[in-house]
Amino acid sequence: MIILAIESSCDDTGAALIEDGRRVLANCLSSQDEVHRRYGGVVPELASRRHLENILPVIRGGLDQAHSSLDEVNGVAVTRGPGLVGSLLVGIMAAKAIAHAKNLPLVGVNHLMGHLLAIFLEHEVPFPFIGMVASGGHTSLYLAEGFTAFRALGKTKDDAAGEAFDKVAKYLGLGYPGGMAIEHLARSGNPTAIPFPRAYLAKDSLDFSFSGIKTAVVNHCRAHPPSDDGIADIAASFQEAVVDVLVAKIIWAAQQYKVGRVVVAGGVASNGRLRERLTKAGGEHGIQAYFPSPYLCRDNAAMIGVAGYHLLKAGRRDGLDMSALSRWPLGKD
Ligand code: KG4
Ligand code: ZN
Repeated sequence: MIILAIESSCDDTGAALIEDGRRVLANCLSSQDEVHRRYGGVVPELASRRHLENILPVIRGGLDQAHSSLDEVNGVAVTRGPGLVGSLLVGIMAAKAIAHAKNLPLVGVNHLMGHLLAIFLEHEVPFPFIGMVASGGHTSLYLAEGFTAFRALGKTKDDAAGEAFDKVAKYLGLGYPGGMAIEHLARSGNPTAIPFPRAYLAKDSLDFSFSGIKTAVVNHCRAHPPSDDGIADIAASFQEAVVDVLVAKIIWAAQQYKVGRVVVAGGVASNGRLRERLTKAGGEHGIQAYFPSPYLCRDNAAMIGVAGYHLLKAGRRDGLDMSALSRWPLGKD
């Protein structure tokens, strides 16, 4: 069964062809980083306009990459939310038009479910597992009990982990998006140079808070204006504080739910220090950590194809009246 998947929830336009929920026939992505960089964040109006220009070439690109045509497609999956409504609508309209014209089943996919299932393009992970989505918009923990069965365990009370990376990077003059720039700079810094706060909230809490650490970085820089070397120490110490909290809570979740496997997804999951620290901590606690390859951690349509396949297989269908959902908590629907 071949699924045409479309993703346009934020600032990346993606189209993918996925076979049987696990094989990537094509994964085409057009990033808008260049468009939004000068504003230091995603400008929703510009994002939806750029999606409009990109959507058809990206879908065409996906079909060409797979040496395929719409006649070989068996179903259409599209990100329905959460995300920017104007951006989501562009992908949804394209998906509806194709599904209607070709008389194909259509299904709307939760973007967070897509992130959590991206791992199945590379690994067979037995259920249940603890899943984390750590991206620019989300930092959430789930208990995954099946391909379409997720229980929400905790989420951020304020900023997402990626948002904290982006804001600190912007403050340090490292550009947008900032996660990769901080990771790069942190390699030449000392992670124990500055004891930035770790917000664990209550003991064993599976919720997160990352707004305090961003303020702590700003306050530290005001009190001690950093030299060039000093900025690397700030980047390394900041990254270490975020990683400490993410690793601790993923392990707590696995222990609380007595699960021996964890899957980390979303843009922040490509962070090398997080991968290294969680793999080590997992080893010490008998927990196996899985990470998708970086190109599958970031927003992409391939992950939407995996989720779409399992939803269609479970009998889920959406009609041409399907709306976009700016908010759509996973695990409560
Ligand atoms: O999943 P994603 O591509 O888009 C969203 O759904 O948000 O995640 C983007 C986020 C950005 O905040 C970016 O700074 C962060 O992921 N990110 C990283 C790294 N690469 C991307 N954060 C830390 N370390 C990285 N290497
Ligand atoms: Zn995402």
